[in-house]
Amino acid sequence: AQLPVICIDGPTASGKGTVAAAVAERLGYHFLDSGALYRVTALAAVRAGIPISAENEAAIAQLARQLPVRFAGSRIWLGDEDVSEAIRTEEAGMNASRVSALPLVRKALIALQHSFARLPGLVADGRDMGTVIFPTAPLKVFMTASAACRADRRYKQLISKGISANIFDLRADLEARDARDQNRSAAPLKPAQDALPLDNSALTIDETVNQVLHWWQERQ
Ligand code: C5P
Repeated sequence: AQLPVICIDGPTASGKGTVAAAVAERLGYHFLDSGALYRVTALAAVRAGIPISAENEAAIAQLARQLPVRFAGSRIWLGDEDVSEAIRTEEAGMNASRVSALPLVRKALIALQHSFARLPGLVADGRDMGTVIFPTAPLKVFMTASAACRADRRYKQLISKGISANIFDLRADLEARDARDQNRSAAPLKPAQDALPLDNSALTIDETVNQVLHWWQERQ
């Protein structure tokens, strides 16, 4: 039988992570933050002293295949180190984007991602959940928000954590990351053919979560 899987794909800072986690919580489903796997892989490469480049693709894929990653509530562990904060820096995001462009690394992480699809269900957040990892999922959402809106949200998030930030740099960074994610040959960021688009520029988090839950109820 078809496992209950909800895919939420979209660009950087579109709010999909927050929404996907909230939907999983409301439904009591498992949650896969696939971006975190690329972030942890990139960090593991940095820690191992392996420069992130095409020449090191096989070595990084090897790391990814044996990644000692563990999700414990909202914390993420790499071996015996809590890397929850270390993987969330802008630099870690850039490194993750570069690592994720390597096809062997993507392939190495497929089985691990599939292992999250268990009863009672899964909400999977990423770039290629609906196109590559769970192509038969009954609900696929492609979440977007304007670049201005995403930069503004990221800015407020950083400021609220006491981290200084420049909104123009943030917007340039996220547009650079979007361009890399959309233009790479391995699993580029694009909506699945049967994905429902959801632009949340003018919506609150609750409204966005409710829209996804509504679509899911329609399918039951
Ligand atoms: O979503 P997040 O910003 O944590 O993802 C970090 C990077 O990992 C993204 O910029 C993207 O390049 C990559 N990624 C990916 N495929 C996914 C999830 C993330 O290529 N399913």
